[in-house]
Amino acid sequence: MTEQPPEAVPARVPAPPPAPPVVRLAEGLAYGGDYNPEQWPREVWDEDVRLMREAGVNLVTLGVFAWGTVETANGVRDWSWLDDAVDLLHRNGIGIDLATPTAAPPSWLLTAHPEIAPVLADGFREPAGGRNAWCPASPVYRRFALRHTEALAERYGRHPAVRLWHVGNELGGGNARCYCDLSAAAFRDWLQARHGSLQAVNEAWGTDQWGHRFGDWSEILPPRGRHGAPNPGLFLDYERYSSDALLSHYLAEKAVLERHSAVPVTTNLMVGAGAQIVDYASWAKHTAIAANDHYTLVDDLLREQDLAFAADRMRGISAGRRPWLLMESSTGGPSWQRRNRAKDPGEIARHSLGHVARGSDGAMFFQWRASTAGAEQFHSAMLPHSGTRSRVWREVVELGRYLKALAEVQDSTVEPARAAIVVDDLSGWALQHGLKPHRELRYGRELRTWHRALWRRQILCDVVPVDADLDGYDLVIAPTLLVVDDAAAERLRAVPERGGTLVATYLSGVCDRDGKVVTGGFPGAFREVLGAWTDEFYPLQEGERTALDNGAAVEDWTERVHLEDAEAVLRYASGSLSGGPAVTRRAVSGGAAWYVSAPLDDTTVDDLAERLAAEAGLTRTVEAEPGLEAVRRIGADHSYLFLLNHTDTDLKVAADGRDLLTDTRVGPETAVPAGGVRVLRESVRHPLE
Ligand code: GAL
Repeated sequence: MTEQPPEAVPARVPAPPPAPPVVRLAEGLAYGGDYNPEQWPREVWDEDVRLMREAGVNLVTLGVFAWGTVETANGVRDWSWLDDAVDLLHRNGIGIDLATPTAAPPSWLLTAHPEIAPVLADGFREPAGGRNAWCPASPVYRRFALRHTEALAERYGRHPAVRLWHVGNELGGGNARCYCDLSAAAFRDWLQARHGSLQAVNEAWGTDQWGHRFGDWSEILPPRGRHGAPNPGLFLDYERYSSDALLSHYLAEKAVLERHSAVPVTTNLMVGAGAQIVDYASWAKHTAIAANDHYTLVDDLLREQDLAFAADRMRGISAGRRPWLLMESSTGGPSWQRRNRAKDPGEIARHSLGHVARGSDGAMFFQWRASTAGAEQFHSAMLPHSGTRSRVWREVVELGRYLKALAEVQDSTVEPARAAIVVDDLSGWALQHGLKPHRELRYGRELRTWHRALWRRQILCDVVPVDADLDGYDLVIAPTLLVVDDAAAERLRAVPERGGTLVATYLSGVCDRDGKVVTGGFPGAFREVLGAWTDEFYPLQEGERTALDNGAAVEDWTERVHLEDAEAVLRYASGSLSGGPAVTRRAVSGGAAWYVSAPLDDTTVDDLAERLAAEAGLTRTVEAEPGLEAVRRIGADHSYLFLLNHTDTDLKVAADGRDLLTDTRVGPETAVPAGGVRVLRESVRHPLE
């Protein structure tokens, strides 16, 4: 008898459920981190909880990588240590965010079934030893993962200390794409559901080019190999499939948990600037509270703005812009960057409260106690190797005090923004892969450029996914939104027509959702509303610069733009495009549609942002110097003004209220100390609208 090949796990994602009720994880804002007691002898645990209480910790993420330490052999489980840890935390009033430990399959499983590990594009199967060493199409992995999840849910699903379920860890971190045969089979199944017929696939992907027409489903393979020139339609569908495959794994675990427990379920996303590894905007709709892991990057000169961008993006994917949760961040250097910078004094609070200002109902860290061994032995922690004598510990205790003082901020929502930046992972993926006119354009860079200009002016901006409702926004910016479907294009075109301001930057609207170019002049989907069009791209060579008539220069990308009924706001002033429009504006029924055909330098974007803000009637949260970040949250009884000073001089700002961090009355003007934070319960509640 020949053995039947296993059936691949299909990637099926149902429509998201209606937004669940708002989740409260703690009394007040959540504070804590990943807690890995299994790495320590039992006597250390008592010190752990004593110090957690001293620091004001009220929630810990438990058991994230504890599959192999519980299921020590196939079907053999030792719950004793986890029972003890759960009870100890409960006795001490510390809530638990209990993780399904499925990110790290145990060694016995990987040894018995090495085929569960993901396969890279070049055919290499990942060896054991990393994390997320599993393929979402593997039926073996799925069976073992759900079996353990079920056992965990049965055991702790009704335990009063468990406040949240945390499925896996950073799904996709390590296994975002798998190219094995099972994944190929699941991909074909997914394609059938999406396109209906093979003919539709051939048409969508334009497979007649290079004679790549498919005559049978079995001929379709993932974009394997290293040639770097996959069919763009196939490439985009594989990205979509891969995101859905991981999401469907999350949903399978979630369904098991929900059979045994009424505790809300989430998973920790990795939302930042740029194209993400999976489409988190679609994932967030399946979580009870959207949760994010954010680490600042050491070589980022404006890391507080990267942080603000990520937080604004989290709010943008959180149902109804409701509070979300910062699930992981660091108190100092992580250990996965090349040179792991410590945080400067004051940065722990400033960064954490930066997330809270923008909608997080808490601040959590990786991890509670620094490990002495294992791959992450040099990662910072709330309780560092040097113990409680450390500056980090003092700042951790201080942050705990701050979060406690801010308890009343819980459940309040960030003031509605009137500006939005539209982001889309598909556009980012498409921009950065395949044979594009310029292969070094970076989606995140363009996103950050526009966000930065608003951020430094204290103008709040939501960062929203492409399927978001844009009705409430007076200014909508679509940076390099390369692929758009009809519905999204329609929503964006409606912005100027109802009196708002739309800004589209180069390469936006050029392709449809299958990655096919829209003909008749760029940027296809927005040509008419912009009243300007491009007939040719002029990518620049490395180091080449083209002057603009405001004295600035652009690098990387320029276009030959023609005006129809738009005016040129800026023109190219050198090279073969000299005299041609670079930035255009069309007045549209009370609103305006702008086209920016090149990546502009910060000063030019700052000048444009000033004009755009005036045109759209946007107000600043406060009038202050750049570097003073200001965001308001509005609750039922009070509004709260967060003021974060990222500079090294004290900055003054007009604000009136009680500073909850120092419990002092301030106003009508206050100085925010260099590197410091104030959070004012405002004397007069700011209205919601
Ligand atoms: C995260 C991960 C954590 C830890 C952390 C270190 O990406 O979820 O488990 O590894 O990085 O910075």
